[in-house]
Amino acid sequence: MNLKGKTAIVTGGSQGIGAAIALKLAELGANIVIIDRKEKEASETTKEIENLGVKSFVVIADISNFQEADNAVNSIIKEFGKIDILVNNAGINMDGVIWKMTEDQWDKVINVNLKGYFNYIRAISPIFREQKSGKIINITSINGLRGKFGQSNYASAKAGIIGLTKTVAKELGKYNVNVNAVAPGLIETEMMKNADPVVREAATAEIVLGRMGQSVDIANTVAFLASELSRHITGEVIKVDGGQYI
Ligand SMILES: NC(=O)c1ccc[n+]([C@@H]2O[C@H](COP(=O)([O-])OP(=O)(O)OC[C@H]3O[C@@H](n4cnc5c(N)ncnc54)[C@H](O)[C@@H]3O)[C@@H](O)[C@H]2O)c1
Repeated sequence: MNLKGKTAIVTGGSQGIGAAIALKLAELGANIVIIDRKEKEASETTKEIENLGVKSFVVIADISNFQEADNAVNSIIKEFGKIDILVNNAGINMDGVIWKMTEDQWDKVINVNLKGYFNYIRAISPIFREQKSGKIINITSINGLRGKFGQSNYASAKAGIIGLTKTVAKELGKYNVNVNAVAPGLIETEMMKNADPVVREAATAEIVLGRMGQSVDIANTVAFLASELSRHITGEVIKVDGGQYI
């Protein structure tokens, strides 16, 4: 796989799965734009990316803000002249059972995890249409496919991402744009390291391969979807979950 000279945007690329994706795409030769709220973490990941011999650029923004997405895309075009790959990855969770979930928990998770993805696809799609090429990869979750106790907001947003992926794949297909989603199962990131050990153990027990996934497992699949090896795949949702869903 070779992404030399490509420009890739990774939202939430400062840490966790996003940082692993950014580093993998950089390893394959792409210049990387990280869009994140966390300045310190973003600049640390940027240094690692630059050590791989490619360019890196950080935009500090809240992905749920429509105008900030437009501004970010304009500044990336100024810097790199083009965009080839968009990885929508930034996400949050604010869990609670439905009878206790507040309006704020619902709105924040939907605004970041679903509207945030729309914002960047909306800002970039005229560019992809014009250049008649592009790759969009949306990180969803197996919980968007099966639901999850205590995560009605998160699972709804993640299910929404799947509808968004399939619709945009239909709309942009004739412009040679591939739009796919990756659905991770449980992945060992900072968020999971701090989780209740009982919850962690119960989730790990569902995984037929008997181990937690690593961020690099997601990054490898995203790299495939960002490359020409997957040129005839679009509107697809690929689970990367060690069999947790089955
Ligand atoms: N870790 C898992 O087990 C798991 C499983 C399934 C899906 N996912 C999905 O993978 C993606 C990455 O998860 P992670 O575990 O690496 O999470 P993480 O919390 O470690 O990282 C998320 C990143 O997104 C950024 N971010 C959050 N809200 C933002 C906003 N409004 N604007 C800009 N940046 C923002 C954070 O600053 C952070 O850098 C998420 O979409 C998550 O839902 C994770």
